[in-house]
Amino acid sequence: RANEEIQRFAYIVSHDLRAPLVNVMGFTSELEGADKQLATFLDKVEAERPDLVSQDAAFAVREDLPEAIGFIRSSTQKMDRLINAILALSRQGRRVLTPVELDMNVLLDEIAASLTTLAEDRDAEIVLQPLPAIRHDRIAVEQIFTNLIENALKYLRPGVPGRIVVSGRQDGDRAIFEVEDNGRGIKEGDHERIFELFRRSGEQDQRGEGIGLANVRALAYRLGGTVEVRSQFSEGSVFTVTLPTEYVDEGAVDG
Ligand SMILES: Nc1ncnc2c1ncn2[C@@H]1O[C@H](COP(=O)(O)OP(=O)(O)O)[C@@H](O)[C@H]1O
Ligand SMILES: [Mg+2]
Repeated sequence: RANEEIQRFAYIVSHDLRAPLVNVMGFTSELEGADKQLATFLDKVEAERPDLVSQDAAFAVREDLPEAIGFIRSSTQKMDRLINAILALSRQGRRVLTPVELDMNVLLDEIAASLTTLAEDRDAEIVLQPLPAIRHDRIAVEQIFTNLIENALKYLRPGVPGRIVVSGRQDGDRAIFEVEDNGRGIKEGDHERIFELFRRSGEQDQRGEGIGLANVRALAYRLGGTVEVRSQFSEGSVFTVTLPTEYVDEGAVDG
């Protein structure tokens, strides 16, 4: 149950970090307001008694302070996004899973349909091959494949039309799915790292916080499965999701 510990820890930490952060954000706005007052005052003094205004003071009020406040603001906004992401992950981790019969052909059709606009924007096609059915929590499975296909669409090679193929097969009591792309690929040394929280790899030319794959892996583990990557840099990547064909609730076994 180490996972539950971590979930609880993540929840408490992010929750507790939020309060001081909200304070910092609030007082940053006050600083900004105060600086505006000072600037107005400075304009007046400069007009009436220019001999009283030093260059340093004028620079501090008009340049240094606004710049520093801008940096504080963009840093706290970034921190706020990260805290929200951790909260969402831990909330997700504590959600009760409800296994249902999933026709993966239908589910992947729906996911592909929801990504049509993105695919068209990126000049990419999504090819769905016949997939085995499984019995799992719908939202968890949806999140796994949405994230993987979204990534495949995001990290294509410029100038090369994207081709993303989703395939699957059954192997005993496991179902094995692959999401394959012909995109920019991932450097050898980053194959494991990309599954870590907030980790990104390669050129940072796409929006993102580095949370998707950490979530995918956490979800796959929770469903009793795994997710792995094979990739050749600048040729493409294959993400393999292995799941038991039926979800077994470990909690239920303990009673
Ligand atoms: N299909 C892919 N092709 C190439 N690189 C990928 C692919 N999927 C993920 N990556 C790399 O893994 C990193 C982490 O992915 P992810 O956790 O989804 O975060 P994000 O997409 O927000 O960056 C990405 O920034 C990218 O460098
Ligand atoms: Mg992503």
